[in-house]
Amino acid sequence: MSAVTASLCSTLMFVVFVSAGQKNITADTGDNVILPCRLTNKITAVEWSRADLGDEIVFLYQDGQFVPQKQHPSFKNRVALRDRQMKDGDVSLILKDVTTADSGTYKCRVKIAETNSWKYITINLSVSPVIKTIPVKSGQNVILPCRAPKNNQRVKWSRADLKTANVFLYQDGHFVPDHQHPSFKNRVLLRDGQMKDGDVSLILKNVTINDAGTYECRVFMEERRTWKLLVIIKLRVDPPGQKNITAESGQDVTLTCRVTNKITAVEWSRADLGDENVFLYQDGQFVPQKQHPSFKNRVALRDRQMKDGDASLILKDVTTADSGTYKCRVKIAETNSWKYITINLSVSPVITSIPVKSGQNITLPCRAPNNNKHVMWSRADLKTKNVFLYRDGHFVPDNQHPSFKNRVDLRDRQMKDGDVSLILKNVTFNDAGTYVCHVLMEETRSVKSISIIKLIVDPGRSGGQGGSVGLIIGLIVAAVVVSCCCYFCCRRKTSEDSQQLPSQI
Ligand SMILES: *[C@@H]1O[C@H](CO)[C@@H](O)[C@H](O)[C@H]1NC(C)=O
Ligand SMILES: *[C@@H]1O[C@H](CO)[C@@H](O)[C@H](O)[C@H]1NC(C)=O
Ligand SMILES: *[C@@H]1O[C@H](CO)[C@@H](O)[C@H](O)[C@H]1NC(C)=O
Ligand SMILES: *[C@@H]1O[C@H](CO)[C@@H](O)[C@H](O)[C@H]1NC(C)=O
Ligand SMILES: *[C@@H]1O[C@H](CO)[C@@H](O)[C@H](O)[C@H]1NC(C)=O
Ligand SMILES: *[C@@H]1O[C@H](CO)[C@@H](O)[C@H](O)[C@H]1NC(C)=O
Ligand SMILES: *[C@@H]1O[C@H](CO)[C@@H](O)[C@H](O)[C@H]1NC(C)=O
Repeated sequence: MSAVTASLCSTLMFVVFVSAGQKNITADTGDNVILPCRLTNKITAVEWSRADLGDEIVFLYQDGQFVPQKQHPSFKNRVALRDRQMKDGDVSLILKDVTTADSGTYKCRVKIAETNSWKYITINLSVSPVIKTIPVKSGQNVILPCRAPKNNQRVKWSRADLKTANVFLYQDGHFVPDHQHPSFKNRVLLRDGQMKDGDVSLILKNVTINDAGTYECRVFMEERRTWKLLVIIKLRVDPPGQKNITAESGQDVTLTCRVTNKITAVEWSRADLGDENVFLYQDGQFVPQKQHPSFKNRVALRDRQMKDGDASLILKDVTTADSGTYKCRVKIAETNSWKYITINLSVSPVITSIPVKSGQNITLPCRAPNNNKHVMWSRADLKTKNVFLYRDGHFVPDNQHPSFKNRVDLRDRQMKDGDVSLILKNVTFNDAGTYVCHVLMEETRSVKSISIIKLIVDPGRSGGQGGSVGLIIGLIVAAVVVSCCCYFCCRRKTSEDSQQLPSQI
C-alpha cells in the first residue's frame, strides 16, 4: 500500500467527529458551558477560535502545552480543556461564566497525529441576556447589576423608551455626557470606575417614578465593531412611603403627584369607582364624560398648566366618602409612556356637639357626596333600630325606632348638593345621644359614616329641681328603651333585612 493510499484511507475512514450532532448550544448568562469536540483519532494539537476575533484565538494547545500568546483577553482564566490529556480524542472546551458577549460561532481545529493534517468542526453558542426585575422605592438609590467581559473600553446603559438618548456612556476611561438624557444628569455612575472583573453595574440615585422602565446594559465588542446586549433590567419604582393623607370632613385636600418631565395627560382614578374616574385631563382639556358624579365641580388641578410636571389634584370639601386609594397616572410627553403613583386618603368624619333645649326643633347637619340614593341616620344606643332611613327616593319606616315616628325628616328630600341633614322636631330629653349619618356607596356596596353628632339636650327652663326629676325619669326611660332594643336586636337578628344599612360600622 502506497503512502498516498494510506493517508487517503485514514482521512476517509478514521477521522470522525464524535460530537457532530450537537452544533447549537444555548446557555444563560453565568453558566459554565462545554463546547464539545471529539475525534476517534489521536490528536497532537487543538485550536479553538471564534470567527470575529480576527488574529486572536480562544484557546491553543500544541507541542504538549497551552500557548497563551494569542489568546483574546476576554478568555483569560476562563477556558480549559475538559481533559488535559485529550484522551480518546476529547478536546472539548470548558468556558466558564459566560455572558452574551461569548455568543458566536466557535471553531475547533485539531491536528491528527497520524496524518499531520488539520480538521475542524464549528459550534454555535448562543448566550441569552439576564432579564431581571428590580423593585425600588422612590427616593432611594438602586444598583443595576451588569457583568461584562474583562477589559472592555466602552459601556452603554440605555432605557428602551428613551430612543437616541442614553442613560450612561463610558468610553476609554471617561464618562461621556453628550447624549445623556437630562433626567439622569448627576444621578448615575458606575459602581466601580475601574470596571474590575468586568463589573459595569450602574448606580442610579434618588429614583423617581419617572425612572421606571426597561434598562439595557451593553458593551462594545471591538473586534466585531458592534454593541452587545448583556443585561436587561426592568426597574419597578414603588411610590414613596409617606403617601397616607389624612383629613377631616369639610377640608380641601391636595393630592400631590409630581414628575420632573413635561406631561401631556393625567388621569386620577380611585380603585373602587370602576370605569369612572376622578379627573381626566388630556389633549389640552378636561374630559368630563367619565367623571364620577361625586367629584363634579369639586376637583381641579393645582396647576392647570401642569408646569414642571405638577399633576397634583385639589379635592374640595371632602367627606369620609372620599376616603380610598387614589391613582395618579401621567403621560410623559417625551416618551409617550404612562407612569403612576398611588395615594391613600383617609377622611375622618365630622364630630360636632349640638346643644338644644327640649321642645325645640333641631337640624342635624350632614353633607354627603352628590347623587346618593341611600341615607341612614342612626343613634349609637339604638342598635338595630334606626332614626331615619331614606332609600331610592322614599322614606322607609320599617325599622324606625318608635320614638322618632312623625318627628324626623330630611331637610331637603331632593338631597340637593348632597344635603342629607335631618330635622328632628320637638326634641325631648330622650333624644340626647350620638347620631351618625351614613351613606351607601353604590360602587363598593359599602357604608360610610359621614358625620357624627352629639346631641346634648338641655331640660329647659322648666328645670330647677324638676330638672333632676326629669333626668332620673329620663334615665329610667332610656334604660327601658335600651333593654327593648336589646330584645329586638336579639329577636330580629335572623330576620334582618339584608338590604338594610347597618346601624353600626
Ligand atoms: C441552530 O440555530 C439556528 C438559529 O439560531 C437555526 O437556524 C438552526 O437550524 C439550528 N441548527 C440546529 C442543528 O439545531
Ligand atoms: C451558526 O451561526 C451562523 C451565523 O449566525 C450560521 O450561519 C450557521 O448556520 C449556524 N450554524 C448552525 C449549526 O446553526
Ligand atoms: C431627590 O429628588 C427630589 C426631587 O425629585 C429632591 O427634592 C431631593 O432633594 C432629592 N434628594 C437628594 C438626596 O438628592
Ligand atoms: C398608611 O395607613 C395604613 C392604615 O391606614 C397603615 O397600615 C400604613 O402603615 C400607613 N403607611 C404609612 C407609610 O404611613
Ligand atoms: C393604601 O391602602 C391600601 C388598602 O387599604 C393598602 O393595601 C396600601 O398598603 C395602602 N398604602 C399605603 C402607602 O399605606
Ligand atoms: C317645629 O316645627 C313645627 C312644624 O314643622 C312647628 O309647628 C313648630 O312651631 C316648631 N317648633 C318650634 C319650637 O320652633
Ligand atoms: C312635644 O312633645 C311633648 C312631649 O314630649 C308633647 O307634650 C307636646 O305636645 C309636643 N309638641 C308638639 C308641638 O308636638
